[in-house]
Amino acid sequence: MKRIRHDGVVVVGAGLAGLTAALAAAPAKVLLLTGAPLNQGCSSAWAQGGMAAALAGDDTPELHAADTVAAGAGLVDPQMARLLAEEGPAAVRALAALGAPFDRTAGGDFAQSLEAAHSKARVARVKGDQAGRAIMEAVSVAVLAARHIEVRTGTVLRGLLQDADGRVRGVVAEQDGTLTEITARATVLATGGIGGLYAVTTTPAELTGDGLGLAALAGAMIADPEFVQFHPTAIDIGRDPAPLATEALRGEGAVLVNADGERFMARYHADAELAPRDVVARAIHAEREAGRGAFLDARAAVGAHFPDEFPAVFAACLSGGVDPRKQPIPVAPACHYHMGGIVTDAQGRTSLEGLYAAGECASTGVHGANRLASNSLLEAAVFGARAGAAARDAADPGTRALSPAVPPVLPASGLQILRKAMSRDAGVVRDAHGLTRLLGVIDALEAGHGQAPALVAARLTAACALARAESRGGHFRSDAAGQAYPRRTFVTLAEVRPALKYAAE
Ligand code: SIN
Repeated sequence: MKRIRHDGVVVVGAGLAGLTAALAAAPAKVLLLTGAPLNQGCSSAWAQGGMAAALAGDDTPELHAADTVAAGAGLVDPQMARLLAEEGPAAVRALAALGAPFDRTAGGDFAQSLEAAHSKARVARVKGDQAGRAIMEAVSVAVLAARHIEVRTGTVLRGLLQDADGRVRGVVAEQDGTLTEITARATVLATGGIGGLYAVTTTPAELTGDGLGLAALAGAMIADPEFVQFHPTAIDIGRDPAPLATEALRGEGAVLVNADGERFMARYHADAELAPRDVVARAIHAEREAGRGAFLDARAAVGAHFPDEFPAVFAACLSGGVDPRKQPIPVAPACHYHMGGIVTDAQGRTSLEGLYAAGECASTGVHGANRLASNSLLEAAVFGARAGAAARDAADPGTRALSPAVPPVLPASGLQILRKAMSRDAGVVRDAHGLTRLLGVIDALEAGHGQAPALVAARLTAACALARAESRGGHFRSDAAGQAYPRRTFVTLAEVRPALKYAAE
C-alpha cells in the first residue's frame, strides 16, 4: 500500500458540504478526494428546489426554524434548527457573492418561492429548477482557484485509519486500483446519502452510504438511520436514477391526478398538493398500489413556459417521451434524502476524535423525522463551513501506530439484490415482516461478501426501522400506525443486533 502524510485536512466528497468545508478550512492545506469529477456524482448538483432562507422582509429565522421543527415530527433539535435558520441568509449571500446566479426581483432582492410545509415563500432558486447545478458551478470555480485545496478526482474512499485509541487519523483511498494510506490532521466525511441502496432513487446511484458505513465500522455513533425521505414526484419513465419533478411545480400550482383524472390529494390531507412531503409520497404510493396511477399535471400551471421555467424537468420528461406542456407527467415516490447519519455537533465533530462529517452523511439533528424542503443545500453550506473550520483547528495528533481497515466492496450483483430488497421492504410503507425479511437478505449478502460499508448502511437503516414500532415523518409502519413518545435513535453498529434476534422477539 502507498503512503502519503498530508499536513492538513482530508475532505472526502465534493458535493456542496465537501466543497464548503474545503473552502472554510483555509489556510490549512486540504486534500479533497472525490470519485467523480467536480459537479458530478453528487446530489447537490442535481438539486432542483433551491435554498431555504429567511431573506424576505416578512420572514424571520424564527419562523424558518419553527417550520423546520414542525416538519421534523417531534425529532428536530430546536437549537440546531435555530442555528441553521439564523445562518441561512448569510450562507445564501455568500454563495451569491461566489457567483451563484440566484433569481432576483425587479428591485434586486432574492426572488423567493413557496414549497410544501413552509409558512412563507422562502426558497431562493435559480431559473426554476437549476439551483443545484448553478450553485455547484460557482463553488467549484472557487475551489479550483483556492491555493490551499488540492482536488483528486477518480479517488474512492475505501477505509478509515485509526490509531490504538480509536482516533481517526486519515483514510485509505483507491485510485486506479491502487490503495493509498493518507494520514491527516483531521478527516471530514461529506460522502452524501444512501439513495444508491434503493432500486428507485433520485440521487446519483453511486451514493451507497459508504461514509456512513465506514464511520459505523470505526465505532462512530449513528443517529436516526431509519428516517429516509421519499420524494413524491420522481418522473416514472424507467430511468435509473429517476429524474426529479421538483416540488416547486406544485408550489406553482401543478396538481396531482390519477389515471381517472381525479385530483386525489384532498382525500389524504387538507393542504392537498402542498401537504408535507411524506404525506404526498404515501398518497401517491397508495394510488399506484390501488392501480389508479399518479400523474403531475402542470399543463395549466406551467404549460408553454416549461422550457424556460423548468428546463431540467422539461428535458427529463422529453427524454422519456412525455411532453409536460401537453400531458400529465407519470410520477412515483423515490428515495431522495437520508435524514439519519453520523452524529455530529454544531462544529461537525463526530463521536470519534479526528473525524468530522457534514451534509447528508451527517446527522446534525436539524431534519428530525422529515426534512423540510430545500433545507438540505442550506444545511450543507452552513454545517459544511462549520466542519471545515473546526477541522482546520484540530490539534495535530502526532505520529502513532495506525491500523488501516479496508472492508470489502459489495459487488454489483449483490448491490442489485440489496437495492430491490430495500425498495420493497424499507420503502414508503414498511412493516415488521418486510423489515425482518430485509435483514435476512442483508445477513445472506454479508455471509457471501463480507461486511461491506453499503451493507452496514443498509443494516442500520433496516434494523432501526424495525426497532421503531411507530409511524413518524418519513418512517411509516403499516403495522404500527400510531406514535410513541418522540425519541431519536442513537446507535452504534455493535448495538444493532442480527435480524434473527429481532424475529425471535
Ligand atoms: C425539490 O425540488 O422538490 C426537492 C427539494 C428538496 O429536496 O429539498
